[in-house]
Amino acid sequence: MKMPRPLPTPFLLLAISVLVLALPASSSYPVLIPVAKDPATSLYTILVRDGANHVIDLAGPLLWSTCAADHSPAAFSCNATECRDANAFRAPSCGIAGRPCKNKCTAYPYNPITGKCAAASLIHTRLIANTTDGKNPLQQASVRAVAACAPRDILASLPKDVTGVAALSASGMALPAQIAANHRVANKFMLCLPRHGEGVAIFGGGPLFLQPEPSVGDLTTTLSFTQLQSRKDNPLYYIPVQAISVNHAPVPLPAGGVVFCSRMAFTALRPDVYRPVVDAFDRALARNDAKVPAVGAFDLCYRSSMLGNTRNGYAVPEISLVLEGGKSWTFDGSNSMVDVNGQTACFAFVEMKGVKAGDPNAAAVVVGGFQMENHLLQFDLEKKQLGFAKASETPASTLSSAASAYHPPNEDATSHAAPPVGHLAARAGVASLVRRPRALPGVQGRRHLPLQHPRQGRRQPRR
Ligand SMILES: *[C@@H]1O[C@H](CO)[C@@H](O)[C@H](O)[C@H]1NC(C)=O
Ligand SMILES: *[C@@H]1O[C@H](CO)[C@@H](O)[C@H](O)[C@H]1NC(C)=O
Repeated sequence: MKMPRPLPTPFLLLAISVLVLALPASSSYPVLIPVAKDPATSLYTILVRDGANHVIDLAGPLLWSTCAADHSPAAFSCNATECRDANAFRAPSCGIAGRPCKNKCTAYPYNPITGKCAAASLIHTRLIANTTDGKNPLQQASVRAVAACAPRDILASLPKDVTGVAALSASGMALPAQIAANHRVANKFMLCLPRHGEGVAIFGGGPLFLQPEPSVGDLTTTLSFTQLQSRKDNPLYYIPVQAISVNHAPVPLPAGGVVFCSRMAFTALRPDVYRPVVDAFDRALARNDAKVPAVGAFDLCYRSSMLGNTRNGYAVPEISLVLEGGKSWTFDGSNSMVDVNGQTACFAFVEMKGVKAGDPNAAAVVVGGFQMENHLLQFDLEKKQLGFAKASETPASTLSSAASAYHPPNEDATSHAAPPVGHLAARAGVASLVRRPRALPGVQGRRHLPLQHPRQGRRQPRR
């Protein structure tokens, strides 16, 4: 019998190099950053640089924070990729951002709540976070990043302990792209916004296991997918939605698009979309007997003791975003009804302010935080795909499994309690989309961020 001949060396080398080439470019574990919700403002925050707290902004293009007085600016030229990315979008409120760039790069960080902006230099910095296997934190990683150094005065109206904003858009200067490039993971991230306790942001992809219920297995296997779209003139994430259905009866959705905005506390509907959806919900619930007067921005409110309860919140009609291919993203009572006080629960969708019905330049729907909470959302910027799944009947606490080393939440798992209403009502006015031509540094023309920035709302004490 003939023994198989050993492969000649050149073949072996070839085989090895093919193997090496076949290894995925991403060779690190994903990066885990716990997410918290600030009760006073309903904004979501993450700890990124040296334990400094940042507000997350799904629609923001830059990572920025206040820096030490002696920080040394990075020497980026006007035409460096970093400089172009940093200036790829500009907030409508930021008049100074149109200035031509002369020899050294200037970025224009802005406060997504007040719209206030400032000229700032870029610096090299590091993000300190744990890597994860989806079950536990593994080890600390220090990831290079470029951030803008903003003056303190643009922090006004952000939560007290916050020193900046961490953008999660698909822009080259936002966190996902920077972590993907510098930590060598896939350019995708998962986000689970908490209602109470802690949620998670994981950069680089899954898996993700729920700690208290290991039997559920990898949560990323429960994701449904739809296209994640973008438009050239703004950094927002769009998804293709055909209709909004109320208990499976579709309410047609006119043009304008459906976008995500983590700094909006509640989903805002353009007036031409809002009215039919509210009317359909009112009819489908058919509880005029339980109705009470409107509270703040919420038109449809009920005596909460008169509504039925399920393990997923109040027993109310389901609201779904009807996607392509017969899929839907459904919000049950836990994401559609908010307790505004001890006696009253309201339909947690608000009407966009400052936008005309049917205005094609305004988004038709801006999906806000309350509706995203306790869902696992995966923004895959490589495949341009959004994955979504209801995370759990219980709050995101179970989800922060991977962050289990952090403080456990102590709030009642069944509560669907409210953020303060006054503030939200004010933020509900944010959603007008203004499309303007693109401008790069040194190029004439103005670039506008699509979201108009409302004045800061009155803060109301919680409960
Ligand atoms: C930037 O501009 C300078 C001169 O204007 C040029 O020499 C350089 O190649 C440019 N760099 C890039 C990355 O375009
Ligand atoms: C990393 O995880 C450990 C617990 O395993 C935790 O004590 C530490 O604070 C985490 N570090 C960061 C930067 O989140």
